[in-house]
Order: sequence, then structure tokens, then C-alpha cells
Amino acid sequence: MRNSEIAISIKHLTKYYDDFRALDNVSLDVRRGEFFAFLGPNGAGKTTSINVITGLSNHQEGHVKIFGYDTVSEYIQCRKLIGLCAQEFNFDPFLSVRQMLVYQAGYFGISSSIASKRAEELLTRFQLNHKSHVKHRALSGGMKKRLLLCRALIHDPEILILDEPTAGCDLELKYLIWDYLKQLNNEGKTIFLTTHYMEEAERLCKTIGIINHGRIIKRGVKKDILQDRSLERVFLEVTGLE
Ligand SMILES: Nc1ncnc2c1ncn2[C@@H]1O[C@H](COP(=O)(O)OP(=O)(O)OP(=O)(O)O)[C@@H](O)[C@H]1O
Ligand SMILES: [Mg+2]
Repeated sequence: MRNSEIAISIKHLTKYYDDFRALDNVSLDVRRGEFFAFLGPNGAGKTTSINVITGLSNHQEGHVKIFGYDTVSEYIQCRKLIGLCAQEFNFDPFLSVRQMLVYQAGYFGISSSIASKRAEELLTRFQLNHKSHVKHRALSGGMKKRLLLCRALIHDPEILILDEPTAGCDLELKYLIWDYLKQLNNEGKTIFLTTHYMEEAERLCKTIGIINHGRIIKRGVKKDILQDRSLERVFLEVTGLE
């Protein structure tokens, strides 16, 4: 890993889907060890940003660097440094939970004996070890979320990118995930998280970025963003009028 203090550096990033501009000149830095929340309404461009950062989508202008490595020309180094928990479930239907984790580790050159041990630790941590031999179809929605997290962590990445990791999770599970994410961040991992829950951003993150219509509209430390009156809106519903 290069000795860069910036874990994720996004400069002047513009991305089109055909002629629709999904990201418009986005620039954003996430420092090493930061716990960063990326907020914005549906369709704002959060998942698209993540897809470009992780190399799943291309882009037309600008560049992204991961600890100094370019995501296009040095993508192999970048992939090793990132663990992605995607918004959608994207599991191999033919593999069991445990096999899925061991196979994923194989992409990073981790031997199956080490991967098996790590898979067991993660499955225990996320209370999934009793399901290790079933296929993902046999998991509940909350269990699938936990499996996505296990898969993101299997190669012990420096950066965790989490696209709405607790959406659809019950309260107990949310607390379990939050505690573990806090622990990982305290151990030095950089975390980039998207969420629609302000409580999640408030509890976990030190810095917040807000995106809307593909543009960054705010970026700063949590306290300043939460006190920013320009972000407040009041909705009035008027009834009883003809
Ligand atoms: N593969 C695609 N092809 C065309 N347009 C797309 C594609 N993926 C996303 N978009 C569009 O890009 C915009 C940003 O979508 P994106 O998924 O990044 O939003 P988001 O901020 O993650 O929203 P949500 O909170 O609903 O997950 C939306 O207008 C969406 O319709
Ligand atoms: Mg999304």
C-alpha cells in the first residue's frame, strides 16, 4: 500500500449513462481511518459513485485514487484494498454460504485453509455459523445483509465501502453491525458508508458528504453539517381546502 494519507481521492468525476449525467464534477477526499457517511436522496448518485470507486462502472471524466493507486490503470492494487458491501444481493446461487466466502477469498490469493478459518470467525461474529452449509436462497433478508458484510471483510481490506448496510435490518442486528463497524474503524479501517438513516450517520461517522443530482452539495465534519440550517426543510400538509 502506498503511504498516502488519503484513502479515497475523487477528482472532477463525471459519469454519464447514455446522455444522462449521473455524476457531475464530483470531487471528494476520504482520509485514512475516517468514518465517512455519504448521504443523499434516492437517485442522487451514491451507488453510482461507489460503482466507479470500486471499478464496477466506467466514467468519462476525472479520476479516482485508492491510497494513491489509480482505479483504472492500477485496478489490481485498488481491488485488494477495498471490501464492498453492495446495495443489491449479488450471490452465486450454486454456492453455500461458507463456500461463497472461501471462493471470494480465493480472488485475493488467500489459501482455502486460511479462508475457511476467517470465514468461520466472520460467520460466528455475524451469528450466521448455523447457516454456513445452506445456499443463499435459504437465508432471510437480514441474514443476506450479514453475508454481504462477511464477504466484504473476508480479505481483511483497508477500506470498507458499505452501500446501505443496515437497510431492512431489525434493531438488534443494526446494533450488532454498528458495534462491529465502530470496532473496525477504531482498529484503523477506513469506512465509506451510504445510508438514509440520520441516526446511523450521527452515531457512527465523523465526517459527512451530501450528494444531490450527481453533485456534492456539502462536505464537512458531522457537527457542522448537522447544525447547518440551510439543509433544513419544513413540509406542511394542508388538508380541508376545496
Ligand atoms: N445502469 C444504469 N443505467 C442508467 N441509469 C442509471 C443506472 N444506474 C443508475 N442510474 C441512474 O443514475 C441516477 C443515480 O442512481 P444511483 O443508483 O447512483 O442513486 P442512489 O443515490 O444510490 O439512490 P438510492 O438511494 O435509491 O440507492 C438515477 O437517476 C438512476 O436512475
Ligand atoms: Mg443506491
